[in-house]
Amino acid sequence: MPTLLALETSCDESAAAVVRDQRVLASVVATQMEEHARFGGVVPEIASRRHVEALPALIEQVMAQSGVSYGELDAIAATAAPGLVGALLVGSLTGRSLARLHNKPFVAVHHLEGHLCSVHLGDPLPPGPYLVLLVSGGHTEMIRVDGPGRYQRLARSRDDAAGEAFDKVARLLELGYPGGPAIQAAAAAGDPSRFALPKGRVSRPEGGFHPYDFSFSGLKTAVLRLVTQLREQEQAGGEPFPLADVAASFEQVVADVLVERTTRCALDQGLTTLVMVGGVAANRRLRERLQQRCSQLGLEWRVAPLAYCTDNAAMIGVAAEQR
Ligand code: KG4
Ligand code: ZN
Repeated sequence: MPTLLALETSCDESAAAVVRDQRVLASVVATQMEEHARFGGVVPEIASRRHVEALPALIEQVMAQSGVSYGELDAIAATAAPGLVGALLVGSLTGRSLARLHNKPFVAVHHLEGHLCSVHLGDPLPPGPYLVLLVSGGHTEMIRVDGPGRYQRLARSRDDAAGEAFDKVARLLELGYPGGPAIQAAAAAGDPSRFALPKGRVSRPEGGFHPYDFSFSGLKTAVLRLVTQLREQEQAGGEPFPLADVAASFEQVVADVLVERTTRCALDQGLTTLVMVGGVAANRRLRERLQQRCSQLGLEWRVAPLAYCTDNAAMIGVAAEQR
């Protein structure tokens, strides 16, 4: 039963956790979102500085809460890539220094492997290979998992990630940053079938469309056109801008496209379990759509626990533990 201290600082969340045997003994996340919100996105230099300030106290806090001493740790882990370079350096150098100081091994973890492993913090998975839909602010990918460290990417977004689409559309709708939770809140009372928006298909050089790959940049442009048209109507004395309907229609098309293509890929691959992880996996409508479709098709499904969808250090600890 290895015990690990794990750190995560790849973007705008400073996080530390102590994990043992795929269980969280302590986990804290300090978000810098409010500070970046006034710039409409993450400012890398500010992110690095805030990580430097926040991390020591977070580490002290998880060590105290878990009741684990440095001597009892089997390893120290940190996210090493991908992410903002300065931000990553803060976490990985802190982790390496602590490992040196306490004479422990250091485990450098790939951020996406952390997200993949976040599902192990929830209900146990059925045996056998499974398909993961990883949907975050930086990535939208389908990954076949055949066991720890045995990953094969089967599909990806050719342009924006799903989370990036949420963030950019939220900016268009003047909902602020981060966009995902803001759109979810705005969409709650909306009619998701009011506006037809494109599902963004990827053409193949030999003709036809790629069956699984995603494209979200056209959707963003379609929302921009729709918003411009609706605002003009409002200014001309027509209907007040239907924010909830626009947000719900956008959320619906993203959920539908993610669920349709991923379930199709799982069926084609003969995989009977579908897993969803990453910040966008926190989206309520998407979780519901995935559950509905998987039940219809007789597929097992798991979603990372809500608290471990967005960036955190517990998932980094689990990935390191598997190693
Ligand atoms: O995994 P994550 O925390 O960071 C990355 O590795 O990128 O994902 C952050 C992304 C952001 O784009 C954010 O808008 C989105 O996840 N997100 C959501 C929700 N909560 C966070 N998107 C849709 N609905 C949500 N409830
Ligand atoms: Zn992430």
